[in-house]
Amino acid sequence: MSGDVGDDIVVPAASGGTRLRWSALPSSLRTAVESASGSRVVAERSASGGFSPGLASRLTLASGRRIFVKAMGEACLPNGPQILRREACVLSALAGSAPVPRLEHMVESDDWVALVLEDVQGSSPRQPWDHAELGQVLSAMAALAATLTPAPIAAPAAAEHWQDEFTGWRQLAASDRAAVTELSPWAGDHVDELARWETSWTDAAHGQTLLHGDLRADNMLLTADGVVFVDWPWACVGAPWVDLVLMLPSVAMQGGGDPEAIVTSHPLTQTIEPDAITSVLAAVTGFFVFGSLQPPPPGIPLLRGFQRAQGLVALNWLRQRLGQADLARN
Ligand SMILES: Nc1ncnc2c1ncn2[C@@H]1O[C@H](COP(=O)(O)OP(=O)(O)O)[C@@H](O)[C@H]1O
Ligand SMILES: [Mg+2]
Repeated sequence: MSGDVGDDIVVPAASGGTRLRWSALPSSLRTAVESASGSRVVAERSASGGFSPGLASRLTLASGRRIFVKAMGEACLPNGPQILRREACVLSALAGSAPVPRLEHMVESDDWVALVLEDVQGSSPRQPWDHAELGQVLSAMAALAATLTPAPIAAPAAAEHWQDEFTGWRQLAASDRAAVTELSPWAGDHVDELARWETSWTDAAHGQTLLHGDLRADNMLLTADGVVFVDWPWACVGAPWVDLVLMLPSVAMQGGGDPEAIVTSHPLTQTIEPDAITSVLAAVTGFFVFGSLQPPPPGIPLLRGFQRAQGLVALNWLRQRLGQADLARN
């Protein structure tokens, strides 16, 4: 799959490509999960979506109750245990005030960490996106941002959280213009301009809202009561519309329609300077494109293909916005 933006893009599954199963966890960790939950595990359904190489499974207990467990050790991902500890902090702090899964227990054994979560009775949004479900999710995101403003917990500012990641265009401008041109001749011709837009993302994203930091279809569940947002280790503080802009390339890639039409009609962006949105979009596009040109991280073989496809869609959208910006300036 190569070529300029606008080519047909094969939509990759939202999956990192590997997942641990319950039987592969150290027995001391399994025992700790079972004693915290008060019953033995008798059945497992591993989640097909998501990007961590750790365990993410619906487990049925001998008591008949179901739990959802995420677990990682350093062998699985060097900072995996730390990621789960961070997620546990965020979930405990948001319990009862935001639509997130309830954390029942966090257990540790050697360098392994497991989160025992409420098994949310729901399913991921349909793919390709269904119009009504997308509308429900977009409304739930507006409500979530209102609930999480001002941020109810201490978390890093967005500018600090993504300070290394949102440098893709500047890194590519310095080192790998040919690879950009091969992916997209238009981007190759505009790397310097894209790098300039990227530099202003920190000011643009400044704000007081607790952001999820990784919202996509595979990090939310639709239930009878509404949308539940899962997978919270990357929460950070910034402008309320940032999660929306970061998510929309995946939405467009997964058949949800024109990201520009969605962003301009969304309640969170009505008073936002268009250039602020363009800067954040440039930053995340650079992140996807730069990431897609790197070797796969250990244990997540399919990540780069997913980033590449999102990068191509994001580039298409960014090109459209920059065309409008140019017209507006002339
Ligand atoms: N509490 C939960 N109850 C039921 N299903 C869940 C729960 N949390 C996550 N899931 C499902 O499992 C998948 C992987 O979980 P997630 O927390 O996103 O892990 P990862 O960090 O691997 O992406 C999600 O895409 C979602 O479909
Ligand atoms: Mg996930």
